Amino acid sequence: MNPINIALDGPAAAGKSTIARQVASKLSMIYVDTGAMYRAITYKYLKQDAPEDFQNLINHTSLELTYNPSKGQRIILDNEDVTDYLRENDVTQHVSYVASKEPVRTYAVQKQKELAIKKGIVMDGRDIGTVVLPDAELKVYMIASVDERAERRQKENELRGISSTLNQLKKEIEERDHYDMNRDISPLRKAEDAITVDTTSKTIEEVTEEILKLVENL
Ligand code: C5P
Repeated sequence: MNPINIALDGPAAAGKSTIARQVASKLSMIYVDTGAMYRAITYKYLKQDAPEDFQNLINHTSLELTYNPSKGQRIILDNEDVTDYLRENDVTQHVSYVASKEPVRTYAVQKQKELAIKKGIVMDGRDIGTVVLPDAELKVYMIASVDERAERRQKENELRGISSTLNQLKKEIEERDHYDMNRDISPLRKAEDAITVDTTSKTIEEVTEEILKLVENL
């Protein structure tokens, strides 16, 4: 098979990263989590007491993605590995705001496009099929019910030692989706040629199989 890129978009906590990781591993491709890039910039924004000059913030930021065989993608922000801080509540609550800013998106999208030039990438996010990789060989738009998404996120948080309640997670997921779908620059939406995959009530293995079939049929 010729090398391909796979774009995987969808609302928060729809299972994108778990599935993208599985698909990448089965196909010996590299998984790129673009949400982590926006989260890293948000982490810095919060550390600097929320400066509103985003161009200045970006001008003084260096962001690198590295791959560790056992730990997967690591995010290096200004020479420091910040990966383990990016799922904290404070970052999650502010990331959609930071990700809506033009200098932030221009910087992140440029980096993402560069990563995918040689192909062999499974990239998940909100604007991958529409803006970052409009020529991706396969585009998937992944959805799931809000209830199930909140339950999955709750389990993930428990494993990571992050405290949360189901109601709080549902509210947070709905608010973030609303913000991401209604921002001015590259809002979350399904690319015209993307295939919708509903992961509600499906196992990770089932969804992974479904996507591998789509790849086989390319
Ligand atoms: O995927 P994850 O939940 O980590 O993404 C965090 C946030 O980053 C999203 O809610 C969205 O605001 C932003 N994001 C984005 N474009 C992407 C990936 C993430 O705007 N390609």
